[in-house]
Amino acid sequence: MKSKANTLAIESTMPALVFRGKQHIALENVPLPTLEAPTDAIVRISICGLCGSDMHPYHCREHVDVGTICGHEFVGCVHETGTAVMHFKVGDRVMSPFTVSCGDCCFCKRGLTARCVKSQLLGWKGNGNGLHGAQTRFIRIPLADSTLVRIPSGITDEQALLLGDVFSTGYFAADNSDLATRYCRDVGIAATVAIVGCGPVGLIAILAARHLGASKILAVDSVPERLSMAQRFGATAVDRSQCDPVDWVLGETDGYGVDVVIEAVGLPSAFELACSITRAGGTISVAGCHTEASMPLSKLYDKNLTLKSGRCPARAYMERLLPLVKALHADPAEIITHCVALSPDAYRMFDARRDGCIKVIMDPWL
Ligand SMILES: NC(=O)c1ccc[n+]([C@@H]2O[C@H](COP(=O)([O-])OP(=O)(O)OC[C@H]3O[C@@H](n4cnc5c(N)ncnc54)[C@H](O)[C@@H]3O)[C@@H](O)[C@H]2O)c1
Ligand SMILES: [Zn+2]
Ligand SMILES: [Zn+2]
Repeated sequence: MKSKANTLAIESTMPALVFRGKQHIALENVPLPTLEAPTDAIVRISICGLCGSDMHPYHCREHVDVGTICGHEFVGCVHETGTAVMHFKVGDRVMSPFTVSCGDCCFCKRGLTARCVKSQLLGWKGNGNGLHGAQTRFIRIPLADSTLVRIPSGITDEQALLLGDVFSTGYFAADNSDLATRYCRDVGIAATVAIVGCGPVGLIAILAARHLGASKILAVDSVPERLSMAQRFGATAVDRSQCDPVDWVLGETDGYGVDVVIEAVGLPSAFELACSITRAGGTISVAGCHTEASMPLSKLYDKNLTLKSGRCPARAYMERLLPLVKALHADPAEIITHCVALSPDAYRMFDARRDGCIKVIMDPWL
């Protein structure tokens, strides 16, 4: 295939973190990706991330094929473009959402890029189909023109990496709750908000809820470093291992519960907690990725609750959020606590929330 390529000579293999089975990630040498369609680009990765969502296949709560290169968060420079790629050239600094999208189908046109008819998740291969991921040095991005986003100067690689997933996801979770419109504008009452889970997604949701006008933000987790960052980002935080979070939230809200709960965990216990602390008529916005069926519909009915959920349409949010990177209460990149070389130990550290780890990124060139 004809293509425009970076002429720098490179090796024919590259190191990558590869899924080998339950809690088994291996650092292996894999072949470099090549263009497979004229709309593909190859991106040379500068940094890549480790996400709470990587933990689902790691623990076999979700299936990916053995041999899949893991990861879906990265930034880098365009290294090679297929002949049909018009908007990018070799050397452009780019960020990417965690799903590819066509930009043209009925879902993309409605801003629901995560459900594009051609959507594929990076780092998710099943039955031999799907895409390899970003925890490596080079990645093939299909539908490059409508998937990649050029990074403006003034935005750091770290900020751009977060825009591709957890920044967009945390903001989407707050936005999806309608806290700014339904409560603040129409009713004239600023919403009270609770964040269940102060991992990267929940922490960004705190910044977003504050930006969108929440009057009070309560946050629940049990990891000290995450609780103190939640406080710094503008929440009042409680350690659920030290007290009953239901009693605490009700006590903070005259016994009624909060208007909006953002659930950023993905476990049945967290959703149950969300149901218990939302006031009647309130909204639960679920960002957590649930892999178990556990839907207490009666709890929603009994309190007239609204449930919002889903995969973040990150491609639609990324450009919209660029002006916000410097307008929030804190720099979202503060959540990045570790930058390490590609290593299976990064998974173990993140999974165990060891060493004060909140968000881990990796430099594949170290
Ligand atoms: N919707 C999307 O598009 C999207 C995008 C990215 C991540 N996610 C999902 O969001 C979730 C969070 O991701 P993350 O990167 O922040 O992960 P994370 O695992 O770092 O954070 C989860 C946090 O929840 C806390 N927690 C666990 N059980 C709890 C409970 N019962 N009550 C309160 N807190 C509890 C943990 O201590 C941890 O700090 C994951 O399920 C991930 O798959 C969804
Ligand atoms: Zn993710
Ligand atoms: Zn589409």
